Amino acid sequence: MAIVIDQKEKLFTLHTAHTTYQMKADRLGTLLHLYYGRRTDDSDKSYILSYRDRGFSGNPYEVGKEIKTYSLDVLPQEYSCYGTGDYRISGLKVQNEDGSQAAALHYREYRMEKGKYAIPGLPAVYADEEEAQTLEVILEDVVSGVEVHLLYGVLEARDIITRAVKIKNRGAGKIILQKAASMNLDWTSGEFEWITFYGRHVMERNVQRSRLVHGVQSVGSVRGTSSHHYNPFAILCEKNADEEKGACYGFSFLYSGEFLMETEKDQCSQTRLICGIHPDNFAWELQPGAEFDAPEVMMTYSEKGFGGISRNLHKTIRNHICRGEWKEKRRPVLINNWEATYFHFTGEKLVSIAKEAAALGVELFVLDDGWFGKRDDDNSGLGDWFPNEKKLGCSLKELAEKIIACGMQFGLWFEPECISEDSDLYRSHPDWAVTVPGRRPSLSRNQLILDFSREEVQNYMIDRMSAIFAETRISYVKWDFNRSICDKFSYGLDAERQGEFAHRFVLGLYRVLETLTTRFPHILFEGCSGGGGRFDAGMLYYTPQIWCSDNTDAIARLKIQYGTSFGYPVSAMGSHVSAVPNHQTRRVTPLATRGYVAMAGTFGYELDVTRMPEEEKEQVRKQIKQFRKYYHLIQYGEYYRLLSPLEGQCTAWEMEDPEGREALITAVYHDVEGNSAPVIVKVQGLKREAFYQAKLNPDDMEGWSEQEKECFLEGLPYGYKEGEKITGAALQDCGLAIPDVMDAFQAWQIHIVEV
Ligand code: GLA
Repeated sequence: MAIVIDQKEKLFTLHTAHTTYQMKADRLGTLLHLYYGRRTDDSDKSYILSYRDRGFSGNPYEVGKEIKTYSLDVLPQEYSCYGTGDYRISGLKVQNEDGSQAAALHYREYRMEKGKYAIPGLPAVYADEEEAQTLEVILEDVVSGVEVHLLYGVLEARDIITRAVKIKNRGAGKIILQKAASMNLDWTSGEFEWITFYGRHVMERNVQRSRLVHGVQSVGSVRGTSSHHYNPFAILCEKNADEEKGACYGFSFLYSGEFLMETEKDQCSQTRLICGIHPDNFAWELQPGAEFDAPEVMMTYSEKGFGGISRNLHKTIRNHICRGEWKEKRRPVLINNWEATYFHFTGEKLVSIAKEAAALGVELFVLDDGWFGKRDDDNSGLGDWFPNEKKLGCSLKELAEKIIACGMQFGLWFEPECISEDSDLYRSHPDWAVTVPGRRPSLSRNQLILDFSREEVQNYMIDRMSAIFAETRISYVKWDFNRSICDKFSYGLDAERQGEFAHRFVLGLYRVLETLTTRFPHILFEGCSGGGGRFDAGMLYYTPQIWCSDNTDAIARLKIQYGTSFGYPVSAMGSHVSAVPNHQTRRVTPLATRGYVAMAGTFGYELDVTRMPEEEKEQVRKQIKQFRKYYHLIQYGEYYRLLSPLEGQCTAWEMEDPEGREALITAVYHDVEGNSAPVIVKVQGLKREAFYQAKLNPDDMEGWSEQEKECFLEGLPYGYKEGEKITGAALQDCGLAIPDVMDAFQAWQIHIVEV
């Protein structure tokens, strides 16, 4: 049983295959958090709590005057409240009708059911009755009538526990939620560090590890989206944890808007972590009888280091978050015209790229920005989602048919949540743009935000996009969003409800996506926000892949994809081969290296294939074959980070067949030192007693002179030649030497096969 309940003791124990989570309602009704960690028994862990008089930490009235040792300020809680004696960061802040800001939650009852709860209008992990159980613990504030439903989804085999919160106003007066976090987790002991992911446009998700010191540390976004700048995913770990070992907790927020993930190490060196919607732009009114759903957080615990956390999350995202036809179906190798043409194309040019790419084995042509309205640069046209037939030289439907006739599928770029001032849509509905009355709005990329919090705007966009999807054969949509939101205000909301705008905007986005993905299930949606500015587990519920970054340089991508891989699977990471010198960094890298780095993602091209020399086209043909050959390992394999791009000379990762029969290792020399020792990787997974041989991709030696080949083969480490074999145990413990560097930014793709 995943959920064990001792009704008399009000003790709740949640088990997954390798973890246990426990909470208990005490004699006052406070729901105390007792344990989250390695799988253990169901026994009551409350013996571990210490009750002492902590000066200046108040005592609830109900405990009686003689007891000074019970304080909410130091007790570990499941869901903390602001205003009634807990001075730490809190999960819930309520403003009551009388203006007071106080709530005190006490246990009332619980419910349990088979399967996994869903959340209306919001993304959530899904699982069937065999795979998951739900626990709902109901707490209430008897004074105000606020009811808090704590939801726990237990996916036993996946080592995943999800949390979400529903808040109901059962009182007689109106309340305002000023903060309604999705989870609170307390540890009474332990020295922790946390790993967060910071970045910027064209350099997303850099890894930062910091010690949790006394005080509050946080990452978050007030930009309307989850943002390039901080990702709504973090790992909390023991001091000695590393890639392969050590206790780690992973927290991934299934939300694409403004978030706050905060930690506090308190006066007693206890640690609290809270995650939820950012409270800065949030004030949600609940009239009597109304309710509010806070989005979901997915948690996992592993003693197999960061790698263990990543693999648990990868599988859960692939199997329990991504939905629809594209969850299982092989994703097409695509070519996107953005870096090939930017805004400057004709229909004829597009068809020529599609034709050439089809001959190389590419399966999907994506027409990026510039096909609609008056849109020859980024100053105008957003909102006018009507094909520019003059530019295309025909109707969109006809263009699609021409491309399909080349043997390609056809895909299209949209940026539905933005509007240009210079657009017909803005001219007819200026109030649909997000602006503050009486102020000039801030422009970003010279565009404004379209108010997705309004139902009429959502409906307009659903209808417009549906019309295009219905009249044109479209197999793919790139859903972009190229600015952060500011000047937050909606002409559709009353003055006192403006604090709801940021969250309503996200709910509107989710509604439009839900409607379109349900109506057009065959369309593969790829998320995007100036590259990876909205790369979160919430978006992956609607779009199973997201363009990882506008930075397509293979070497910069090593860091971006490395950071992204901590929380998200390869199947989610949009990654393309682009031209050199790279448009973002001016770096020149070999085509093979660009191919291997893009193969650590959804794989595609973003360059003008018509301009490629014949030898390069041949290489592209071979790359596509390689990608298909290893698709099962790339998309469904167990992912291991072997060498980090942040140190040494070489970045390496491994995709392993879960049965241990084969693995694919990619090693990229991001730097070269003179006369250095060989690079060794400790191979992960595999069967210890089996024998393996390492095989290089023979295409990588093509074009070499006999002398170069001879010299290379002479220096080739043991394990790569016919007849040479190494045990799985030796590969794990002693390692495999990576062949030497032969070219700047050399990369090797090494197939390890059981022999
Ligand atoms: C964003 C995307 C790019 C491209 C442009 C088009 O920057 O991330 O891939 O689609 O918009 O304007």
